[in-house]
Amino acid sequence: VNHLLGIKYITESDIDLIFETADQFKEVINRPIKKVPSLRDITIANIFFENSTRTKLSFELAQKRLSADVVSFSAAQSSVKKGETLIDTVNNILAMKVDMVVIRHSYPGAAHFLSKNVGASIINAGDGAHEHPTQALLDSYTIRERLGTLKGKKVVIVGDILHSRVALSNIFALQLQGAEVKVCGPKTLMPKHIESLDVKVESNLRKALEWCDVANMLRVQNERLDVNYFPSTREYAQQYGVDKALLDSLDKEIVVMHPGPINRGVEITSDVADSQQSVILDQVENGVAVRMAVTYLLASKIK
Ligand code: CP
Repeated sequence: VNHLLGIKYITESDIDLIFETADQFKEVINRPIKKVPSLRDITIANIFFENSTRTKLSFELAQKRLSADVVSFSAAQSSVKKGETLIDTVNNILAMKVDMVVIRHSYPGAAHFLSKNVGASIINAGDGAHEHPTQALLDSYTIRERLGTLKGKKVVIVGDILHSRVALSNIFALQLQGAEVKVCGPKTLMPKHIESLDVKVESNLRKALEWCDVANMLRVQNERLDVNYFPSTREYAQQYGVDKALLDSLDKEIVVMHPGPINRGVEITSDVADSQQSVILDQVENGVAVRMAVTYLLASKIK
């Protein structure tokens, strides 16, 4: 398959291959010359219909470090605003001899839809509340780097599970690699059929943190929430926010993750985000190597 649409559609051995390849690229990007000529003959379009800092720049850097030609497109400044459809937009971009498309879209299934309707390799950079596969890959890669393995590790995903593509992709990725997963958050932000994904729900944050080796603190997605949702930001911070005092009161040191962007003082306080228990900037650093690996492996199939 020439696409990465979601973790649901890949295997544990695919992840192993991505990580082995990412290990090599991580070494490359720590050299004085951070580039390899591997994809000189490939052209990639990054088309973003939703805002992004990390994913967009990380893909662009990954592609440039592989020597691909890159064009980036933000829907807000494009002819989408004049009513052009998704398929017309992408087919017009492909007519300029583009080989691969990285897409972020608010519609769950947008990447899948494109893969069925256009002739290019598609990478999903986040589709609504569905999947964000490269985020889950870089998260697992970072846990592996910090703890040596995922097998047998206990990971709790905290917060707005209902709207989170990061949560769903992480659940699939962690389970594929033998980690145990729990979710923790308010009932109003928990999907009704979460147990069908074979994850346990823990509503008490302290108990969840006492259980886990790793806590992945999700962003509260205010843009996807009703203004009157429960709990309010203040209540959320009180019940599901992590501060240094809470971490220090545990009888072990856990790893703290966050996909970004952080609402400081809501999901985590600054003294947690910036502490040595936090791997938030490692996640961002690893994102480039992991996206280089994904792009390189997919491009190898279309050459
Ligand atoms: N983690 C993540 O997807 O961040 P951006 O929305 O900034 O890309």
